[in-house]
This record gives sequence, C-alpha cells and structure tokens, in this order.
Amino acid sequence: MAIDFDHIVRDALAALGAATDSAALDAWRGTHLGKSAPVMSALGTLGTLPKEERREFGQRANQARQALEQAFEAAAERARAAELERAITAGAIDVTLPGRALARGRLHPAVQTLRRIYAIFAEMGFQVYRSRDVETDEYNFTLLNIPPHHPAREMWDTFYTTTPNVILRTHTSPGQIHVMRERAPEPIRVILPGMCYRYEQITARSEIQFYQVEGLAIGRHITMADLKGTLTAFAHALFGPNVRTRFRSDHFPFTEPSAEMDVECFVCDGAGCPVCKQSGWLEILGCGMVHPVVLENGGYDPREFSGFAFGMGPQRITMLMHKIEDIRYFFANDLRFLEQF
Ligand code: DAH
Repeated sequence: MAIDFDHIVRDALAALGAATDSAALDAWRGTHLGKSAPVMSALGTLGTLPKEERREFGQRANQARQALEQAFEAAAERARAAELERAITAGAIDVTLPGRALARGRLHPAVQTLRRIYAIFAEMGFQVYRSRDVETDEYNFTLLNIPPHHPAREMWDTFYTTTPNVILRTHTSPGQIHVMRERAPEPIRVILPGMCYRYEQITARSEIQFYQVEGLAIGRHITMADLKGTLTAFAHALFGPNVRTRFRSDHFPFTEPSAEMDVECFVCDGAGCPVCKQSGWLEILGCGMVHPVVLENGGYDPREFSGFAFGMGPQRITMLMHKIEDIRYFFANDLRFLEQF
C-alpha cells in the first residue's frame, strides 16, 4: 500500500499555519496527531504489512509524525509567546498616570491643642499625671473644700451613678488630691489632662463631656508670682509672645486667692468683636493658690508648703483659636469639620 507521507505532511503543515491560538492548535493536534490522524492510522497498519516493507514504511511514517510533532511544538511556542505579549501589552502600567491620593489621617483639633499644651508645660518641667474619670464624691468635692450640702456644689451639675458616692468627675481637680497623696511631702509639678462630665443641657457652648487640663505645683516657696509667671509664659507660648494677659479676681473653693486669666482677644487684637463679646479679652482659665485645707487633705502641711493650681478647657481654647462656633462639632465626627484641621 503506498501512502504519500509527503502529501500528508504538506496538508497538515498548511493547516497548522492557520492555527494561531491555543484552541485552534488543540484542534489541529487532534486531527493530525490524534488516534485517527492519517499518520497515526498509517502507523497502526504497520503490523499488517509484509515484513520487507515494514522497515521503510515505519521509518517514513515516523519521520512524518516527528515532522508534525516538531512543527506543532514550534507553533505552540509561538502562540504562547504571542499570548504572553498580548497579556503584557494589555496589562501595561502607564507610569505617567497621576497616582491615587491616599486618605491621610490626622489628629483631632482638640488633641492638637492638648498636645501643644503638654509640650509647653513639659518645657517648664511639668509631668503629665493621669487621674481617673470615675470618682468618689469625696475626691470630687469634699477634699477640695466643697463640703456636702455646700451651695458651691451647684457650680457642677453632676452625673451620679447607682453606686452611692460614685460619680463621674465634673472637673480634673480631684486629681490634685490623688497626686498629692501619692507624692507628699515631695514637691509637685504636674498637669492633669482628662475628660470631665457634667449633667447639662447640650448646647453650642456646653457638652456633657469635655476635656480639661488641670495644673498643680506644690513646694516650699511657691507664690502668686510663680502662678502668674508660669501662666503668662504659657499664654505667650500658645498664643504668641506679644499677646497681653490679665488676671481677674474670682472665687473657687479650692484656691485662695482665686483668679481667672484672660488673654487679649486674638481675633480683634483687643479692639472688641463678637468673639470676645466686645470686651477685647478672652477668658482662658481659672487658677489660684491652693487652699490650705486642700493642701492638708493632700498630706502637705500648709505652714510649710504652698502651691498654685489652674484648670482650663482645651476645647474652649481651640474654639477661640479657630473661631469654632459650636462645641458639639468636637464629638460629631463630621469629616467636613475634622478635615479642616
Ligand atoms: N475645677 C474648676 C472648674 O472645673 C477649674 C479650676 C479653677 C481648676 C481654678 C483649678 C483652679 O485648679 O485653681 O471649673
């Protein structure tokens, strides 16, 4: 039987030329190298041939099969390379495209002010002392020279808990007693930052929770001049070296004498504007010389020791600095507000 292997190979190679993707190549392999492909069925007939023809027939058939296999491998390799090339071009990165900006986190405006306050007092040698948010009536009031039933308690609207005498602190001042009792009779220079809570109507000017930064200095020779010098230096560091300050006499049960400190309105430079209510001055903190009763409650002999204390609302200061009109923004988590700082 004469089989024209050259013809078979030529036909098959012509068909291979048209197969350029992997699906077409697979189909081609089925047709030309599969079980019923001409070359393969020719090889299958080998056993039926007379002995003297087998050798030559077998050789030619195998050559034809090898030629097809090699051609197929080469075509498959070309197709793979072409596919890779296409994938690379299609997925190419355009390095000239502008990048996507990452959303950047930032510190809350109140925290920014707090950190500035910490830094300023740290330079003057004040440590940060963390006191507790949940207090007893005794620490929040009595030990600060505000006895039970004393009308001065009305200055602080208090959150009571269902546990008798356990309250949320209405100010950071009870921390004064904690730090004194811990350190007496060593000298003290600390600031006590933290959250305070008051049972109040929430309005643009008052929240039921807010930060305070308390300050306390205790030593053997501390005078009102130290209080004024320290707080004036603080105001100059926070608001600028040229801002004017003044102290007005006031009353707090835990200090004697007591004062409030004003800074010249930095919105109108003292000329009078809505922010300072035309007064030219902004009240920023309460302060005074630690009351002898409080010193004694803290474990210091008032005949030997004296000290000054102060308390400020960093959110109120932030509101003044940025002309924020509503304290409720601080806890509203509105990005339109927060992203401005
Ligand atoms: N504890 C006061 C308040 O919450 C603020 C204050 C005033 C603190 C005078 C002080 C101080 O340490 O000396 O209203």
